[in-house]
Amino acid sequence: MSTILVITASPRAERSVSRSLTTGFAHRLATHRPQDTILLRDIGHHPVPHVTEPWVVGAFAPADAQTPESKAAIAVSDQLVEEFLAADRYVFGVPMYNFNIPSTFKAYLDQIVRAGKTFAVGPNGYEGLVKNKRALFISSSGGAYAPGTPLAPYNFQEPYLRLIFGFIGLTDLRFIAADNLNQGDEAARQSRERAENALKELAASW
Ligand SMILES: Cc1cc2nc3c(=O)[nH]c(=O)nc-3n(C[C@H](O)[C@H](O)[C@H](O)COP(=O)(O)O)c2cc1C
Repeated sequence: MSTILVITASPRAERSVSRSLTTGFAHRLATHRPQDTILLRDIGHHPVPHVTEPWVVGAFAPADAQTPESKAAIAVSDQLVEEFLAADRYVFGVPMYNFNIPSTFKAYLDQIVRAGKTFAVGPNGYEGLVKNKRALFISSSGGAYAPGTPLAPYNFQEPYLRLIFGFIGLTDLRFIAADNLNQGDEAARQSRERAENALKELAASW
């Protein structure tokens, strides 16, 4: 029995392609894996707080420097880290904003990428502490950034997600993109259909 944490980052509701693909995948997973627990966290509509000065005090200052504000700020992060570490698998629905992830998703990462909790600094350098988990990223974008195409270098989203999740220890990362969504109805329809088919196939074997 596994716990699957599903995170949606689009601020849009019914119009969001990443949200629709991600929740559709979660529903499929629920039928293929009825024994699993699926947790939904909607950071698009319910963003987590940004890092603040009290947060930094909470994370890095000694116990005698803590204040009620620093304790409250870091308690939010501790809870998000606990939820993250309790999950075995992750599904992230992430739009591309300005060639990267939306700031809501970055704020979430800033809360869960924590020294001593999800990564460690040891004698051999950094070590990711989130082991033996797998993650699926379902992205949506107006343009297309396939490797080898002229716009590929604009894609800071997938390389960044590979780096930051690799940094905290994940090695099993899958990416499915619904791209070309702002390149006319037919291009959008085809791309969405391709992503839906890939997700349908993956739900049965993931
Ligand atoms: C603020 C903003 C920035 C965007 N930046 C990009 C971008 O850099 N590249 C791109 O291809 N599409 C970009 N788009 C288009 C979105 O990625 C596209 O509309 C996608 O479908 C949004 O995800 P959603 O449908 O899940 O809300 C941007 C959209 C918004 C609102």
